Amino acid sequence: MRSYVEESQLFGKEDPEELAVRYGTPLYVYNEEIIRRHMKAVAGVITKYPYRANYSMKANSNLSILKMAREEGLNADAMSVGEIMLLLKAGFSSDRIFFVPNNVSEEELQFAIGHGIMTSLDSLDQLDLFGSINPGGKCSVRINPGIGAGHHEKVVTAGRKTKFGIEEHDIDAAFDIAKKYGLHITEINQHVGSQYLDPQPFLDAAENFLRIAEKFNELEYIDFGGGYGIPYHKLEDEAQFDMEDFSKRFTEVLDSYAEKHPNDLPLFKSEPGRYCVAEGGVILGRVHAVKQNYGIRYAGTDIGMNVLARPTLYDSWHDLEILRDGKAVTDGERENVYVTGNICESGDLLCKDRNLPVIHRGDLICVLDAGAYGFSMSSSYNSRPRAAEVLITKEGTAKLIRRRETYEAMFADLVDD
Ligand code: LLP
Repeated sequence: MRSYVEESQLFGKEDPEELAVRYGTPLYVYNEEIIRRHMKAVAGVITKYPYRANYSMKANSNLSILKMAREEGLNADAMSVGEIMLLLKAGFSSDRIFFVPNNVSEEELQFAIGHGIMTSLDSLDQLDLFGSINPGGKCSVRINPGIGAGHHEKVVTAGRKTKFGIEEHDIDAAFDIAKKYGLHITEINQHVGSQYLDPQPFLDAAENFLRIAEKFNELEYIDFGGGYGIPYHKLEDEAQFDMEDFSKRFTEVLDSYAEKHPNDLPLFKSEPGRYCVAEGGVILGRVHAVKQNYGIRYAGTDIGMNVLARPTLYDSWHDLEILRDGKAVTDGERENVYVTGNICESGDLLCKDRNLPVIHRGDLICVLDAGAYGFSMSSSYNSRPRAAEVLITKEGTAKLIRRRETYEAMFADLVDD
């Protein structure tokens, strides 16, 4: 059996067992070199036309990772005031931040307006609210083209059955609102969904979006959204998203629009999150018990659904490696096992009936591809403090980039009169 952590040298010069002892488990471990490589790839997708990739920080909002995105020349998109604050803290200037919220309050919109941050409005009602507090301003409108894509219905972010954006036939109504407040719709954005390895749905949606773009007459930006996938079944040799092929085909889609707009070409944008960070992050967790219940073998770890929600939420597959004495176990006896966490829910499972090397108490479980939507979706459910995060730097050594949450911090907001 292959070992991704050994092939990719994800732990650099560090021994994962020592990391687990030094920082405790569960522990998120990121590799700077892998993350930067992915960020560079998305930054260079389009070279023929003005183009900018926004890092979609909801995938991973650790400050050190945001700084890497800034250094790699990416812009960033934010979904909330908290995300904007983190981007400002990471050194992004306002003109490199794009606010893409939905259903936000007047105060939240005011925060973005006050900081001069370009904002996308996700409904006619939000456009009206924005216009009423920022007459004469510039904004973006999120269009839902009625088609979506993605690995699970919960991550398809366009299409007839999703809450996002305005329908194409509401564009005229958006123009009426814009006119009422003297607003300039200088950007349109869409995001059709997440985690596709075949880019065709994205390209079809991009082509359709460029048709829609013709209805607007003062566009400075056209934002096609993110969603590029990563191989979650990499131990079974699942292929990578082919960035080179994608880049070629995406450029071809842009060619026909560019021909029609030689003098008023907007800046093309995309918004990848997962692709930048997923493969550069893993979780290390300790096996505290193995047991057999009614014929099912369980390996009980400290990686509960509070640490990684994706398997419970979307039935997502994450490859798992077993580490013993700091080395990946790649041969020897195997068995079918359910790997569980320590949370009081029967859905608290990292995998079901997975064929893995025989697991013993004291082993480390390493969850691959956890750099995206891992820590950022974690919680303190069951009153468990959130995990620590370390970065394997370019020098190959570990640096703590988030301390493990303390019990004091976890309880700090409780009011006890
Ligand atoms: N732009 C917008 C407006 C989005 O809604 C999203 C993701 C992205 C960009 C970035 O998409 P990405 O390139 O990361 O696929 N928690 C789920 C994924 C939810 C994605 C939501 N929107 C998961 O763990 O699979």
